[in-house]
Amino acid sequence: MLSLRQRAALASAGAVTTMAAVIVVMTADASAAGTRYEAETSPAVCTGTIDSNWSGFSGSGFCNGTNAVGAYAQFTVTAAAAGTATVDVRYANGATASRPADVLVNGVTRVAAVAFDPTGGWSTWVTKTVTVPVNAGSNTIRLSPTTSNGLPNVDYLDLGPGASPSASATPPGRPPQCTGSAPITCHFDVNPGNYTVTAWIGDQASAGNTSMSVEARRRILSAVTTAAGTITQYVFTVNVRQPEGQPTGQGGTGTPGLDVTFAGSSPRLSGLTVQPASSPLVVYLAGDSTVCDQPTAPYTGWGQILPTHVSAGAVVANYADSGESSGSFLSNSALFPTMKPLIKPNDLVFIQFGHNDKTTTASTFRSNLTSMINQVREKRGVPVLMTPPVRRLFSGSQLTDTALHVNSVGVNLPAEIRSLGSSLGVPVIDLTAKSEALVESLGPTASAALYLQQSVDGVTDNTHFSEYGAGRMADLVVQGIRERNLSLVGYLR
Ligand code: GCU
Ligand code: CA
Repeated sequence: MLSLRQRAALASAGAVTTMAAVIVVMTADASAAGTRYEAETSPAVCTGTIDSNWSGFSGSGFCNGTNAVGAYAQFTVTAAAAGTATVDVRYANGATASRPADVLVNGVTRVAAVAFDPTGGWSTWVTKTVTVPVNAGSNTIRLSPTTSNGLPNVDYLDLGPGASPSASATPPGRPPQCTGSAPITCHFDVNPGNYTVTAWIGDQASAGNTSMSVEARRRILSAVTTAAGTITQYVFTVNVRQPEGQPTGQGGTGTPGLDVTFAGSSPRLSGLTVQPASSPLVVYLAGDSTVCDQPTAPYTGWGQILPTHVSAGAVVANYADSGESSGSFLSNSALFPTMKPLIKPNDLVFIQFGHNDKTTTASTFRSNLTSMINQVREKRGVPVLMTPPVRRLFSGSQLTDTALHVNSVGVNLPAEIRSLGSSLGVPVIDLTAKSEALVESLGPTASAALYLQQSVDGVTDNTHFSEYGAGRMADLVVQGIRERNLSLVGYLR
């Protein structure tokens, strides 16, 4: 499937990372001769407490950061020379989810959302290595957690001597798979699967404003602004399917392989590598047109915005498809039967139907959902039911029964989902209730912006979302993920 040129490019992209990994080994030796900075020793700062209740730490304690976004551990280090330095962070994470943190050098994020994965216990300490640019002399290095779980417990930081620029995590430069400037589009001829995609966003010489999306308008990163000289490394896990977009090919089947697009008002890219990901937590989406990866603007499913909330190590695989009901999703070979064999233990499967179950009886609706739940459990996956987002149909200031998915044979579909969830012990994210509250609080006029509208989109649609509306729905889904404390919480940005 790969052309020779593309194989060579992918291999050389891989080689950069492999070399960086080799450097880690080399500088891990060197860093023994480098300098150790204990988290409990001033001028280090710990937003939390210095504890000593878990054994195996070095020095007199470790930083137990407050479990909150931004509650940091900061070290002040001295570098012999300007350049790239290897930073080894010794930490313990006895929780079950990864605790991602940004690494800031002198106040600038240099590596975003580094995964501090579970270590198996609070007394089990491991070392995580990142490579960052430093100035000659004094520098601050801050670990700033991006989720409300906060940091792992942090023991110390070793600053290794600078690696040579050619063999460091210095941005590898734009690969030959990328063309254009605004947007920059990149194509990697890889097979379907999950990939670790590392993007160095920003530019040595000029300021930028760069967003990132993949495949069929699936957004990964909202636009970030970078000053000249600032390059931030981002790592994401990306799911590749064929057809991309909708599994039945509605709106086009896309190009086999992985497509990455960098847009924004002035996209700047200093490197991009793609490597196979090893068993990420996969969040499968089973749903309809309000969820799916819509290839054609202005239509936007909330599932194609959800990835902007997810850190590396977890990935959204969106099998939702326009027009599907609980029954058609189960029987169409491109949908549930394609998705099911891919589910591995602990993967999440979000199931949202209702819009196209207009004439489905209560018993059929329940048995379709029950079949999906049982089949997900057979694969040892974790099913999650979702009630469908409301339509924008008002009677006065209240949404109508049709808006709330009481179907034409009188079945209150969200009520069926809630009761099925409680009888089968399946967590329910009540997107009907959440979107009802949002749409009614905005009222008949202001809520129009959530949906497609004639004046803006050329089509009036009180069902499908605008990009803005899909983003608001994704926010509500994230709220539900937190409320239900699903395993994805550890990977939320
Ligand atoms: C436990 C543990 C702490 C740790 C905390 C956390 O309370 O004893 O050392 O910091 O969990 O989850 O952050
Ligand atoms: Ca803590």
